[in-house]
Order: sequence, then C-alpha cells, then structure tokens
Amino acid sequence: MSAAPLTDPGPAPAVPAAWDDLPAFVRFLEARGELRRISREIDPVLEISALAQRAVRAGAPALLFERVKGSRYPLLINAYATRRRMSWALGVNDLEEHARAILALVKSQPPSGLLDKVRMLPKLARVATATPKIVRHAPCQEVVETEPDLGKLPVLTTWPGDGGPYITAPMVITRDPDKGSRNVGCYRMQVYDGRTTGMHWQLHKTGRRHMRRTKELGQQRMPVAVALGGDPVLFYAATAPLPDGIDEFLFAGFLRRKPVELVKCKTIDLEVPASADFVLEGYVDVDELRREGPFGDHTGYYSLADDYPVFHVTAVTRRESPIYATTVVGPPPQEDASLGKATERLFLPLLQMTFPEIADMNLPVEGVFHNLCLVSIKKEYPHHARKICHSLWGMGQMMFAKCIVVVDDDVDVQNPGEVVWRALNNIDAKRDVFFAEGPIDVLDHASQAFGFGGKLGIDATRKWKDEGFTREWPEVLKMDPAVDARMAAMAKELGL
Ligand SMILES: Cc1cc2nc3c(=O)[nH]c(=O)nc-3n(C[C@H](O)[C@H](O)[C@H](O)COP(=O)(O)O)c2cc1C
Repeated sequence: MSAAPLTDPGPAPAVPAAWDDLPAFVRFLEARGELRRISREIDPVLEISALAQRAVRAGAPALLFERVKGSRYPLLINAYATRRRMSWALGVNDLEEHARAILALVKSQPPSGLLDKVRMLPKLARVATATPKIVRHAPCQEVVETEPDLGKLPVLTTWPGDGGPYITAPMVITRDPDKGSRNVGCYRMQVYDGRTTGMHWQLHKTGRRHMRRTKELGQQRMPVAVALGGDPVLFYAATAPLPDGIDEFLFAGFLRRKPVELVKCKTIDLEVPASADFVLEGYVDVDELRREGPFGDHTGYYSLADDYPVFHVTAVTRRESPIYATTVVGPPPQEDASLGKATERLFLPLLQMTFPEIADMNLPVEGVFHNLCLVSIKKEYPHHARKICHSLWGMGQMMFAKCIVVVDDDVDVQNPGEVVWRALNNIDAKRDVFFAEGPIDVLDHASQAFGFGGKLGIDATRKWKDEGFTREWPEVLKMDPAVDARMAAMAKELGL
C-alpha cells in the first residue's frame, strides 16, 4: 500500500451553511485552492485595483494582500468574483439551492393534514431562525478606538480620475426614525480625512430616506454604523434590493439558516454584526453636504462629482486581527457581477410570486444590471409583454431597468445570442418598441435630467391575431427528431 503524497491536501472541505466570520471563509477558500496570498508590498493607490481586475478577467482565485503599503491590515478582494465563490459565501454549492428554498417558501400552502404540517416544519424553522440575536460580547469589539483614524485602513484608490480613496464594500446601518426598523445598504464612502467620509446613499435608497425623515422630524444628527467584513453573507445582503422595512440581517439569517449575531455599538444606539472585522461608529448631520466624486463606477464610466452627506466617525471598533474586505467596480465584468447574479437568481422566485407568468430573467453583466433586462414569459393574453414591462418598472429597484426585452418562454434568456436571434426576428421595429419615462438610476449619465429618463420596452413575443397581427407566423426551424437522432449516431461513425 503506498502512502499518500505529503502534498496531498486530503478531501476538499464541504461548504458549511453558515460562516462564523471572514477568517473562516478565507481558510475555506485557501483549502479549496481559491485564494492567493500576496506577500509582496503593493500600493493601495491603483496597483491593487489593476491587479484585482486582471484576476477577475482571468477567473483567478480571491486575493489576500498581506502587505498593503501604508497599512498594517491585510486586504481581501475578489472573494465573491465567481459564481462558485459567490455561492460558497452564501453557504451553498450553487445559488439555485437558495432560489429553490425561496421558491418553496413562497409557494407554501396552508397545511391541510398532519403530514403536510410535518413537511412544513423545516420551512417554518428556517424562517424562525432568521431573526437576528443580540449578544453581549463580540469579536468586532475586541479593540475599541475612541480616537479613530481612517488613515490606518488600507483603503483603495481604484481609478486614476477618482476624487480620492473609497471604502467600496461598506455595510451602512441606519434605523427608520419612525418605525425603528433597521436598514443595511452598501453605499460607497469617499475618505476625506481620518474622521470623515462621504456617504453616497443615492436619491432612491433607504439610507437616504432615513436621513430625509430624520430632518423632517427636526433632528440634526442621525446615528450611522458601518460594518466591514464579517460573515461574507452579510455584505451580499447589504447589496440585495429588499423592500424598505425588511431587515437585511434577517434575510442574511434566512440564507445562513442561523441568526445573525448582533452587538450594541459602543457609542451610538445601533447594533452591528458581531462577526464584523471593523465597525465605524458615527453620525450624519442632516444639513451637511460636501463634494463627493468623481468615482470610477460599475457602469464603466466615472460617476460625476456631486454633493452628498458627510459621515463623521466617532469611534472604530475592530477585531484583534481584522481583515479589510473590499472590491473594485469598473467596466464589466468585475467582482460585483457575481453579486448581481446572486440577486437575479434569488429574487426571481419573489418576482414570480407576483408574476407567475415570468419563466426566467437575465440581467446581462454587460448591461451593468440596470441597463438591460431580458425576460421570458408564458404569454396568456394580448399585449401581455407590455404589462410585464410596466409591472417590472413598478417593482422596487427594477424601476432602474433602462431596457426590457420580453420574449416567449421557449427562448433561453440565459443565452443572450439566442435572444438577439429570436427577438430581432420577432419584432416590427415600429410596432413592438415602446417608451416610458420615470425615475432612472442616478448613475445614468445619458438621461436628459439627473435621475429621470426614458425607458425602452421591446415586445419580442410571437404576435397574435388578437393583437392585430393578421399575417401567418412561421415556426422556428427544428430538425425532425428521428432523423436528428439517426444522424447524431452517423456523425459519430463518420467522425464528424
Ligand atoms: C459594490 C457595490 C457598490 C455600491 N455602491 C452604491 C453606492 O455608492 N450608492 C448607492 O446608493 N448604492 C450602491 N450600491 C447599490 C446598493 O447597495 C443597492 O441598491 C442596495 O439594494 C441598496 O439598499 P437599500 O435599498 O437598503 O438602500 C452598490 C452596490 C454594490 C454591489
């Protein structure tokens, strides 16, 4: 019997449903050969960004920069940059596992018998365990710095024309001043100096609404906490387009099948994830604005400088040995492509709950998520495709979709080439293309006005007589199945 070679890493570890913290995820990625440590000193100004982008394009592992110039903290980037790592971050082998669980939940019928009740238990347990849990002691408060200095963090400058360094993967935590419900959003933060940053919550986002409401109530300062790192599911949840009023940490608890542990901040009345690597505690003054930007954005263009609120950091708490987790955005594909795909997959069952006629949806990465939505439907009545466009434009952040293309459910929207072929054959460019107007992503530089613009709907479904189409509609070409099967065998014999 021969001994295993010394280098044999042994069986690959299984994906746990929940991560305790970021170091646990880093160790896992390393054990799976999906993490590269870089021990050479690298500059956070442009150099790490350029390296990270190359790594994404090459499908390379996540990168852990152990020596970032000017900081003593290691920096993790590209942890989510492939579908596989994105899935692992959410505690599954593939995102579809979560999509199926969400579908099962939204399709649940009231149990009619004992057996049904028993079958229901795991689903109910999963929802029950989602509620965050308060703990008294937390790793994110191992060190408390009441004289904070953001200059110690290895914050990246990602593009040459950027207004400065930006914290690109923050989880910004605020509380609804009326209801007390929590919001967690990822809004980039330009670092101005050791104690202040920009707070880029855009016009339509929940953090911004909390600030507007705080001002309406006559309050001057709104407490804000920013968590960095921690269980990787948390950052995904911060980017997810949940309805205003639904706690992103509850959603994270559902995904990880275990409550997110939260701890009270040291200097403000908010709770933060116990597993976070860093927490910035502070406030936003509702009347203070400062120039923010430009910033090399996920559209692949610079978003222009504009006035945004200022975040004042009053304390930093952290782990003893924290990792600074970050990301780079820019011309697609970048790391955020995987975060967007996760949202596309996990939110499809929720859309289907309201619109069961939707078969599938693809937000192609090149469409930077809000520019292009390909959706397939089981068409049930005349002009159904137009109804779907208007419905989607009315659904939360789907309002930002600049162009929606609707095809029949026999078109695979995950294959954009097939959509181009089928959709362009199916449309009369005058009859089937229509426009709407409304709020648009504030990053859209082409719209006539800031945050307001045109939207394009394309009905590329097969046209019906009841829609006024009187000509004959041809079939899509398909080989005779029997001949095809015979010729498949013959092709093999012929070596074709
Ligand atoms: C890497 C990354 C950076 C983001 N930066 C911003 C930002 O600077 N401002 C913003 O309003 N949204 C930004 N977003 C999008 C929001 O995080 C997203 O729309 C989220 O659902 C907002 O949450 P909310 O609805 O709770 O406000 C970013 C998303 C990602 C993935």
